Amino acid sequence: MAIQVGDTLPSVTFKVMGENGPESVSTEELFVGKKVVLFAVPGAFTPGCSATHLPGFVVNADKIKAKGVDAIVCTAVNDAFVMDAWGKSQNAEEIIMAGDGNAEFAKAIGLELDLTERGLGVRSKRYAMIVNDGKVELLNIDTTGIDASSAETILAAL
Ligand code: BEZ
Repeated sequence: MAIQVGDTLPSVTFKVMGENGPESVSTEELFVGKKVVLFAVPGAFTPGCSATHLPGFVVNADKIKAKGVDAIVCTAVNDAFVMDAWGKSQNAEEIIMAGDGNAEFAKAIGLELDLTERGLGVRSKRYAMIVNDGKVELLNIDTTGIDASSAETILAAL
């Protein structure tokens, strides 16, 4: 069952690129004591995620943070090297690019997406959350298109 509004995010470790390579960053480090916008995409460098989803958060990052958001986190079932390269290619300096390479987080919150038929294996559904001190305050999942989980929709909800 997918995580619900009011639930606390599970304890999982992401990989985030550091100065000397990928570093483990826990959900506690990312979310506890902070207000965070988390969004997930099915894949770094895929057309919709690169043309619309991530750029929307890059363009609106300052406006989102001006609403009291401490951090914006982007996750995908990709490794930290790919997430870092994707973030750099999109000038996403204000966004934490959190690799969930083994789909551990996606599976733990019940939002994994099986794209095996398309040659992509298990990925993450496209969604965005507002998380306050580790607790889910808003969860918007897109099954087609990029609407409920867009930066514009989240900004309007903050
Ligand atoms: C996309 O364009 O966002 C996309 C493409 C293939 C699989 C998943 C997402």
